[in-house]
Amino acid sequence: MAPHVYVDQLKQHVGQPIVLKGWLYNMASKGKLHFLQVRDGSGIVQAVMSKAEVGDQIFALAGSLKQEASIIVHGTVREDARSPIGVEVGVQTLELIHQPTADFPISPKDHGTAFLMEQRHLWLRSRKQVAVLRVRAEIVRQIRNYFDSRGFVLMDAPMFTPSACEGTSNLFEVDYFGDKAYLTQSGQLYGEAGAMALGRIYTFGPTFRAEKSKTRRHLTEFWMVEPEVAFMDLDGDMELAEDLLVEVIKGVVANRKAELAVLERDLTKLEKVQKPFPRIRYEEAIEILHKKGKDTKFGDDFGADEETAISEEFDRPVMIHRYPAAIKAFYMKRDPQDPRVALAVDVIAPDGYGEIIGGAQREDDLATLEARIKEHNLPREAFEWYLDLRRYGSVPHAGFGLGLERTVQWICGLHHVRETIPFPRMMGKIEP
Ligand code: 4AD
Ligand code: MG
Repeated sequence: MAPHVYVDQLKQHVGQPIVLKGWLYNMASKGKLHFLQVRDGSGIVQAVMSKAEVGDQIFALAGSLKQEASIIVHGTVREDARSPIGVEVGVQTLELIHQPTADFPISPKDHGTAFLMEQRHLWLRSRKQVAVLRVRAEIVRQIRNYFDSRGFVLMDAPMFTPSACEGTSNLFEVDYFGDKAYLTQSGQLYGEAGAMALGRIYTFGPTFRAEKSKTRRHLTEFWMVEPEVAFMDLDGDMELAEDLLVEVIKGVVANRKAELAVLERDLTKLEKVQKPFPRIRYEEAIEILHKKGKDTKFGDDFGADEETAISEEFDRPVMIHRYPAAIKAFYMKRDPQDPRVALAVDVIAPDGYGEIIGGAQREDDLATLEARIKEHNLPREAFEWYLDLRRYGSVPHAGFGLGLERTVQWICGLHHVRETIPFPRMMGKIEP
């Protein structure tokens, strides 16, 4: 019996009989030849069927196949210089597993995005979407591998929370047995408890924000990886963020060249992501904006336009640190040299992909943190457990959150974040 071989492994079977299991992506016919494009999730291969070899019946069966018919192809792998994967399959015979009951709604021609988003469950089968999902999975693998191989412990934070981590304006409220609870905006506060127990941890899970803006960077449900490290300061935090990004990009470029080629990603840009990343203070970022004719003032937050303008100055991610404390979260430590600013850092991706990382050194003094909770009008009771972390062996510590989808968007070079996650959730979008 010939072995079942996935498309991405066919090259190792040149000259051998194999079995291919997949779906009909597309087909062209010319006289007594059918050229079937067969996809199996690992890639797409051309299977060439000649009437003389398979006989009239199988040839007619192949001719009647609808797009996305599921099939099993028995054939032989042969080298083919014109093929993007270097091989094609000469068909000996074909089995039909399922003939679609209707015409597939997505043909290989162009469709509008609104239509494709409604058909997301089927759109996932197309070449570009498969490439994106494979790159996404590789990014996740590289991130986990990075932390797992450096002594970090994976720690899962809860999804239901009694309090806000990142401000109260975009919380999803849920009814928790008659009490108010919220879907988590960030695993960080729990990650801090974990860092005090385990030293170095990372959380990696979905996070939720009721973002009422429709931008190309905002989802309401997105995945975040959040390292948290005891005895680390802001400089250590920036080193960790930089090293993580360099290693992840290196691994993805090495392992997902074929997919990045499908996405027509310019690899020279990704290959420039090397240490050191520029590190500039918020106030230096403002100077850049002034030179570019913007009138941003100290105390203003940067939006997409400002981030793009700043990123244009650099060929790799830029780290902007020491933002005004007033525009940052309650838990961030102030700079002892300049109490107007927080020991915070944002990492802005090149080419206008925007903020991919937000992080900070945390306030570790009990009385100061108590005062911040009050200033931010946060309910003290809900944070008592968090304050305990400053009551029992408080240490300097820091961490950050890397948004997975924005990272996928940048690495894949996608205009909109909605294509970076299998089933995107956005304002006005919860189906399919
Ligand atoms: O800057 P943010 O809000 O930081 C935090 O949540 C911290 N508690 C993280 C930490 O220090 N442990 O979010 C971190 C990252 C952003 O840089 C961005 O990449 C992503 O999460 N992000 C979003 N991605 C998609 N859609 C949204 N609505 C996002 N909001 C934030
Ligand atoms: Mg942020």
